[in-house]
Amino acid sequence: MRLSHTLFAAAAVAALSCSAYAQGQPPLKVGLMLPATGTFAALGDMIERGFKLHVEEQGGKLGGRSIQYFKVDDESEPSKATDNVNKLIKRDNVDVIVGTVHSGVALAMARAAKDSGTLLIVPNAGADAITGPQCAPNIFRSSFSNWQPGYATGVVAAQKGYKRAMTITWGYAAGNETVKGFTEAFEKNGGKVMKDLTLPFPNVEFQPLLTEIASQKPDVVFAFFAGGGAVKFVKDYDAAGLKKSIPLMGSGFLTDGTLEAQGASAQGLITSLHYGDNIETPRNTAFRNKFAVAYKVNPDVYAMQGYDAAQMLAAGLNAVKGDMSKKDALYAAIGKAQIDSPRGKFKLSAQHNPTQDFYIREAKGNYNVVTGIAVKALADPGRGCKM
Ligand code: PHB
Repeated sequence: MRLSHTLFAAAAVAALSCSAYAQGQPPLKVGLMLPATGTFAALGDMIERGFKLHVEEQGGKLGGRSIQYFKVDDESEPSKATDNVNKLIKRDNVDVIVGTVHSGVALAMARAAKDSGTLLIVPNAGADAITGPQCAPNIFRSSFSNWQPGYATGVVAAQKGYKRAMTITWGYAAGNETVKGFTEAFEKNGGKVMKDLTLPFPNVEFQPLLTEIASQKPDVVFAFFAGGGAVKFVKDYDAAGLKKSIPLMGSGFLTDGTLEAQGASAQGLITSLHYGDNIETPRNTAFRNKFAVAYKVNPDVYAMQGYDAAQMLAAGLNAVKGDMSKKDALYAAIGKAQIDSPRGKFKLSAQHNPTQDFYIREAKGNYNVVTGIAVKALADPGRGCKM
């Protein structure tokens, strides 16, 4: 009995190693570190779906290698980020990390990736430092820097002739840096930011701040919120009677993936982002149709960024035929790839952040409809990056 067991086990091992040998390489270990709980849970879900859609389109393989997923819920909690990312790096020994949504968590991930030399592709978090002072040869972003959508929206607000703005956001890297980008463009183009309002992430007690906005009466309010917090903010702004009197603008996260839940309160809101639902290219149409068939929901900016994270990884792996040990060639291939994105084709800056068009969008029904271009080929300044 014991002998036959042993023989069976040995045969199984031989068969396994034989097929593994035939394929040349074991599955590529992809660590997904995303929020599965909290105000950004839906964003994490969309990133994962987008990533997996591209992998499935490639027959479940990238660079000839099948994919094995390892998952960690980061809870959008910076204090747990180093422990969480080390589960993927040290325990699971992943080949590549894809994550995350929250800038504070992503900053800790970037430090761990830099120290360990693990390839990191950031599919959302905009923390400027990741493609600035914390940049590294093995760290790439498929999304944006926080400065970019803030800057683009500032251009649009100034173009509309607004002179006096107030800003409102969560007081953490993403909120503060987005507001900084907005202020830079708005003031360069003749506007003035009168006051910045913040509350701690992920609080949604907006009432006292809305009261202050009502009493100050700026020409426009610029907001950065996303996910569940954005749903509540847009509804509260409307319920406070402000939507009628003081135009609300935001980086496009304010209304992306949230329009169904925001209902009438979001209708007509103008935002700027590197994606819009109705970009009428064959590439975007195919992406949206495939996504809707696979998941029975429409994609959003997060799904698109997840999809492009997989496209970037594919570009690297194809160049080295799946051999992750050829690091220089792998990173060079990702760095110089032209990504055929649903947003439009883009390339990475020298600091590994997408240089991309920012669209003007208007919320109509359940869609963020593109009505123009805010800034073409906007490159993050990449301040402080030495690679
Ligand atoms: C961020 O924390 O960097 C962040 C989160 C949600 C967004 C955009 C940026 O929609």
